[in-house]
Amino acid sequence: MALKKVGILTGGGDCSGLNAVIRAVTRAAIIQYGAKVVGIEGGFEGLISGQTQELTVRRTKDILTLGGTILGTTNKGNPFEYREMEEDGSIKTSDYSDKAVETFNALNLDCLFVVGGEGTLEIGYEFFKKGIPVVGIPKTIDNDLEKTDYTFGFQTAVQVACDAMDRLQTTGRSHHRVMILEVMGRNAGWIALEAGIAGGAHIILIPEIEYKIENVIRKIQFRKKGGSPYSIIMIAEGAKEKGGGTIRTQEAKTRLQGVEKLGGVGFYLAKLIEKQIDLEVRTTVLGHIQRGGSPNSFDRVLGTRLGSFAVDAAAQGKFGTMVALKTPDIVLVNLKDLAGKVRTVSVNSQLIRCAESIGINMGREAM
Ligand code: F6P
Repeated sequence: MALKKVGILTGGGDCSGLNAVIRAVTRAAIIQYGAKVVGIEGGFEGLISGQTQELTVRRTKDILTLGGTILGTTNKGNPFEYREMEEDGSIKTSDYSDKAVETFNALNLDCLFVVGGEGTLEIGYEFFKKGIPVVGIPKTIDNDLEKTDYTFGFQTAVQVACDAMDRLQTTGRSHHRVMILEVMGRNAGWIALEAGIAGGAHIILIPEIEYKIENVIRKIQFRKKGGSPYSIIMIAEGAKEKGGGTIRTQEAKTRLQGVEKLGGVGFYLAKLIEKQIDLEVRTTVLGHIQRGGSPNSFDRVLGTRLGSFAVDAAAQGKFGTMVALKTPDIVLVNLKDLAGKVRTVSVNSQLIRCAESIGINMGREAM
């Protein structure tokens, strides 16, 4: 089909590489199909409010290396369950999805590119079911989306976490301390595992494997007795002690907030260790530093490939789909096969076997 006018929005938490995708979609739509490109601002919020901007080759010319998203994003603002605070502090939930469809129709768009993680793509699929021709593009630093080898943003986040590990190694060794690095990853430990291996962690704790504190202590003692009185621990924010729960900075979900805030597990672990071992412990929380800044070359290339392929998919009328990396190709998968699914690290995977085989302690029995 001829593409005359297409729209793109970015939803959910940001990550490095979003602008590379926006640029690729814009350029491919204009250069290959002579289409106009509309950027919808603030994720799905822009479909409710109608706030948009025109995207051109010139507008996107310097954004390949830029972190964040020039369109803005939010991990609140689901049009199907839109929460607003009333004057008396109570929360009103409304369904603005028809309003969003109206905006889409009024913009006269042939297609909507939805760039996001699992939550955003699920909303995209709901809009597809309401008649909007959607093509999804997978992003998240967490790398926890099904049906794609990698999401863009992940490799950059791993590099940031790895650089932090390198720095903790030198100061930890100098002071004979246990250094803990807490990274993102609420359900999936991909960042912790890959950056932990890359950064020479001695212990890596991920949400998929409940850790026993005695195993962690045994590893630190083992290293101390062997003449290395320091240890570097990588922990994902969603890691859980055996029999315990997820550590949160807030008990309940803030009422208007999209996702529950995790965090603090590194400090929790530090307290457990300090009680049992005569070494100083220090915790660093890397937080949103993992999400900001310029994408690395892998994410620039992946984002560009996904964006360009998404435009071709739209031109072929292949809607209700998501573009995905199936190395070495980019392929199309169905959005309906992704709904509600999170790809976690398999506890029997080669990656974990590899870590344990070289002596990294994963919080379970093996040393
Ligand atoms: O989904 C990506 C992610 O980075 C999670 O790992 C993290 O828990 C969450 O976003 C934090 O999001 P925010 O603080 O932006 O709400």
